[in-house]
Amino acid sequence: MQTIKRSWTINGTHYEVETAPLRRLLDVLREDLRLTGTKEGCGEGECGACTVMVDGEPVLACLLAAGQVPDGAQLTTVEGLEHTPGGRVLQEAYAELGAAQCGFCIPGMIVSSYALLQRGGTVDAAAIREAHAGNICRCTGYKKIVAAIELAAERWPTAGTGK
Ligand code: FES
Ligand code: FES
Repeated sequence: MQTIKRSWTINGTHYEVETAPLRRLLDVLREDLRLTGTKEGCGEGECGACTVMVDGEPVLACLLAAGQVPDGAQLTTVEGLEHTPGGRVLQEAYAELGAAQCGFCIPGMIVSSYALLQRGGTVDAAAIREAHAGNICRCTGYKKIVAAIELAAERWPTAGTGK
């Protein structure tokens, strides 16, 4: 079987990955690297549970083949956000406003929220809905999620605080 080799930095740690080029990034993360915070919902690009960041941009790990992720890429999964100031702000805001119920969508939701807030610029309800349009939640009705992200935007760490 043909394989490819990739050097990636994931959540600040260097990884050497060898895998089949068409293997889903989601499977490499979950099965090979045991980064199981990233979830599989639909497996076909419809739910956003598998959202991760590649070079700062949110992508669906179930739709991306490992071979499409370039050598030297910087990847961020939900595990990498846990101990960042921005990730903590988001977790607290989601928890405070009851924006998580069953929790299945939340890892992908948090990664999309982080990608939006770290980009800077206007964060109003329309921008939040747009940035999370690919993240499906079956429980919350989205209202609390939008409110939590607005709250996180107010509390977002300013440059220089290591977000
Ligand atoms: S598991 Fe990737 S979009 Fe649903
Ligand atoms: S909290 Fe259950 S799917 Fe979103």
